[in-house]
Amino acid sequence: MNVDVFTLFPEWFEWFSSQRHVSNVLAAGSSLECVNVREHTPLSGGQVDDTPFGGGAGMVLRVDVLDSALRAHYGVDPVLLRERRRVIALAPGGRLLDDRLVDELAGEPALTLLCGRYEGFDERILEHFASDVVSIGRYVLSGGELAAMVLCDAVMRKLPGALGHEESAAEESFSVALEGQPEYPHYTRPAEYRGWRVPEVLLSGHHARVEQWRRERSRERGLDLARGRSQG
Ligand code: ADE
Repeated sequence: MNVDVFTLFPEWFEWFSSQRHVSNVLAAGSSLECVNVREHTPLSGGQVDDTPFGGGAGMVLRVDVLDSALRAHYGVDPVLLRERRRVIALAPGGRLLDDRLVDELAGEPALTLLCGRYEGFDERILEHFASDVVSIGRYVLSGGELAAMVLCDAVMRKLPGALGHEESAAEESFSVALEGQPEYPHYTRPAEYRGWRVPEVLLSGHHARVEQWRRERSRERGLDLARGRSQG
């Protein structure tokens, strides 16, 4: 997979790219490239944003600036880009990122992520350049960078070679293998600590019973989630 991130803070992604599962995916042939939007602005003084028409607080990322950055990087009119690859703007009001969307994106050969800052994007960026607007939750971050990292993290760990064991991503929370339910509880050594015992079934060596116990716990947690209680 080829991921390009358009951001005002490309250096933030250096740490992210060095994380084990990300570097595994990059070593296996994927790419994660950052484009510094400020380097492509046609405006003087490195200007990239402006005050909103109609008044109000904050600054808005300009459509002409992002147009130049996308055009410089891809060599095409950005209006045509979304026919070739998913162009995802990160914004709090977008489609909520969940395991289904992550799976969908993990199947794409290429993604372009657009990070807004301050008050976000000029709406024409979303209308004419983006194929998707994605949110990582109904709260407002200072910009799209952390949201882009969350999206990349969730997508990349689904790619072959990201994790130590190929199966690890298959049976985790909200996966098809768990019927979309949260994951069952995990325990490791010691089997007893301060009087807190690990459930006997997990020490029994009976694979079928372990499987059944895990499915039951997973469904129970799903019901808890649906009732607004959450854990783990
Ligand atoms: N940019 C600012 N807040 C965001 C959020 N919650 N999700 C995605 N992008 C954002």
